[in-house]
Amino acid sequence: MTDHVPVLVKEVIEALAVQPGGRYIDCTVGGGGHAAAVLAHSSPGGQLLGLDADPEAIGIARAKLGDYRDSVLLLNENFINLDSVAAEHGFYPVNGILFDLGLSSFQLSSDARGFSFQHEAALDMRLSPEQEDTAEDIVNKLPEAELAHLIKTYGEESYSHRIAQRIVEERPIKTTLQLARTVELAVGGKRGKIHPATRTFQALRIAVNRELQHLEIGLEKALHLLGYGGRLVVISYHSLEDRIVKRFMHRESSDCICPPNTPACVCGHKASLRLVSKRVITPAADEVQLNPRSRSAKLRVAERITEWEGQTGITNGKGPGFTGK
Ligand SMILES: C[S@@+](CC[C@H](N)C(=O)[O-])C[C@H]1O[C@@H](n2cnc3c(N)ncnc32)[C@H](O)[C@@H]1O
Repeated sequence: MTDHVPVLVKEVIEALAVQPGGRYIDCTVGGGGHAAAVLAHSSPGGQLLGLDADPEAIGIARAKLGDYRDSVLLLNENFINLDSVAAEHGFYPVNGILFDLGLSSFQLSSDARGFSFQHEAALDMRLSPEQEDTAEDIVNKLPEAELAHLIKTYGEESYSHRIAQRIVEERPIKTTLQLARTVELAVGGKRGKIHPATRTFQALRIAVNRELQHLEIGLEKALHLLGYGGRLVVISYHSLEDRIVKRFMHRESSDCICPPNTPACVCGHKASLRLVSKRVITPAADEVQLNPRSRSAKLRVAERITEWEGQTGITNGKGPGFTGK
């Protein structure tokens, strides 16, 4: 198993403005690297709720965060359930919420999960075994036009039609290497630096896990759990995710979201966030050299500027029902 090296750790701690006694949610706890740094900087008295849709990730994070077992609650949950999970454990309002999107190195390098075109595996790609549809279902069941559309939209792949046509000819496709070869043949072999199947694999993974839809829901729910002055920090790894984060933060930091050229505001929208950094934060060259996976990371950060609906200010004490685990 390949160790997961967390990206932009110093920048995450700064962006979250981690303080002793603070309460934080890590929506994508993964291998627990960012969570460990947040717990170290929020000690004494800090608390962290860590979620991951992948039960294996929760096992890895639990082992990594053993020293903090009284301050951390780790749950195998999709972050679309952020609101109900936080409510159930009285974990609100919070000082900061982190999303470090995508997959960890554990998942990418696993021989069994089907995320990588470098390892032979069944075409699974589900984050959670409880999800119904696998990548194999999509590849073998979708009509050609829908498959082409999916590969184009989620993979930003210009050869989507050729790839979908070849896939349909080759069906049934059962494994990662079979799919990678099919894509390679469709586009006429290897070109450039990236493997020709990279975009198709990205598209399937996004579709299987409904990643973009879930991100929209997760961001919305996160906003409502932040206390006044609480920070929302998101690291994304491709333009489709980053566009959603950027639009969300811009919209929620605007007092009016009427279409341009509307003579007078009719939307009544009020800003609830402030952009802490207008520009996206990216890793320095030395981090990229040490951890090539970080090269596409983009961090955005915003701060809540309105009171939490339900009470004034942030409380740093233990929320009702929080026991740590
Ligand atoms: C890049 S890794 C996070 C690594 C982590 N920050 C660390 O320091 O080890 C992304 C994690 O998010 C999880 N994930 C992706 N989408 C999710 C979702 N909708 N809900 C919960 N977890 C999700 C993945 O299973 C994966 O473990």
